[in-house]
Amino acid sequence: MARKNEGEFMGHILVTGGAGYIGSHTVRYLAEKGHRIIVVDNLVYGHRDALPSEQVDLIVGDIGDKQLMTEVFKRYDIQAVLHFAAYAYVGESVTDPARYYANNLVAPLNMLEVMREFNCKRIIFSSTCATYGHPQYLPIDEKHPQRPINPYGKSKLMLEEIIKDYYTAYAFRYAFLRYFNACGASHDGAIGEDHNPETHLIPLILDAASGEREAITIYGTDYDTEDGTCVRDYIHVEDLASAHGAALDRLLGDGDSLMVNLGTGQGHSIKEVIDAAKAVTGREFDVRLGQRRPGDPAVLVANPEMAKKALDWEAEVRDIEDIIRSAWNWKTGPKGGKYSK
Ligand SMILES: NC(=O)c1ccc[n+]([C@@H]2O[C@H](COP(=O)([O-])OP(=O)(O)OC[C@H]3O[C@@H](n4cnc5c(N)ncnc54)[C@H](O)[C@@H]3O)[C@@H](O)[C@H]2O)c1
Repeated sequence: MARKNEGEFMGHILVTGGAGYIGSHTVRYLAEKGHRIIVVDNLVYGHRDALPSEQVDLIVGDIGDKQLMTEVFKRYDIQAVLHFAAYAYVGESVTDPARYYANNLVAPLNMLEVMREFNCKRIIFSSTCATYGHPQYLPIDEKHPQRPINPYGKSKLMLEEIIKDYYTAYAFRYAFLRYFNACGASHDGAIGEDHNPETHLIPLILDAASGEREAITIYGTDYDTEDGTCVRDYIHVEDLASAHGAALDRLLGDGDSLMVNLGTGQGHSIKEVIDAAKAVTGREFDVRLGQRRPGDPAVLVANPEMAKKALDWEAEVRDIEDIIRSAWNWKTGPKGGKYSK
């Protein structure tokens, strides 16, 4: 790595967790826009292959490692941090909260201290609709009370609160992007979702369609929704990437901090998603009906108006079949929906 006084390394954007699912799509989007990017990812869940290696420097390490992060900030002139790195298995956060508070709260706190030391005060944070907890009204806007019901959501809300205090005391500027259900893959099929274990609905359904899973189980068919199954707001990962681009432009300019929901504003039930997957793939597969899981609200749909106003952004991929088609292309493409490393 070259020193930051060597001009070619001036003005980088640091992406934590950039080798993960949403981070890698965002890295690709920002690299195409001409940003110089470095990624810090410990590869616990991320994939080296998800990154365009010729355009991006990957530093394999932990964002909670102050010594490493100090070295990174010394070597690059970092103008802003896009913070994706976190653990995101809601169920595991209930059974092992220590792992979540250590990684989603203590580690970024260490990073914030290094940012402060180097006077880097712009942060875009991957927050979540899980910070709202059970919806009190729909669609969910940013004024909705934040009462998370699991340690994962709590860790995200606590970090929001800490960053707000850094704004007040140290003049940090932030964008909290509260994603609803991220899904899909890049439209050219080059990168996509490869979580291990996978818990997200669309890849699980496509595993059933491809025969890698015996069946897909619907947890709960007696919700107060049109067809009795849960309704969610599915936001395409490339739309999330462009929202990060808009938030970055705002913070690199003179724009003030903001917190916005990122969703389409439309809900789809699990049954609808399954039917759409059958139509897109042309495959039949077994669908099993299971009991409700604790903690699953019937409906989670974003009010996307604030994002439209503040970022001049809205989701472009609105058709659930288009979303599924992009995920299916990735799964049936050369990599078979799996990275080699
Ligand atoms: N996927 C969704 O639907 C969704 C919804 C709301 C919010 N989010 C948030 O968006 C972010 C990205 O989600 P994703 O689905 O891309 O997850 P992901 O697991 O694919 O990506 C997270 C990346 O962070 C890395 N990482 C984790 N802890 C780290 C650490 N301490 N140091 C360095 N690297 C670390 C992992 O190796 C991984 O590459 C997460 O913060 C998640 O909480 C995701």
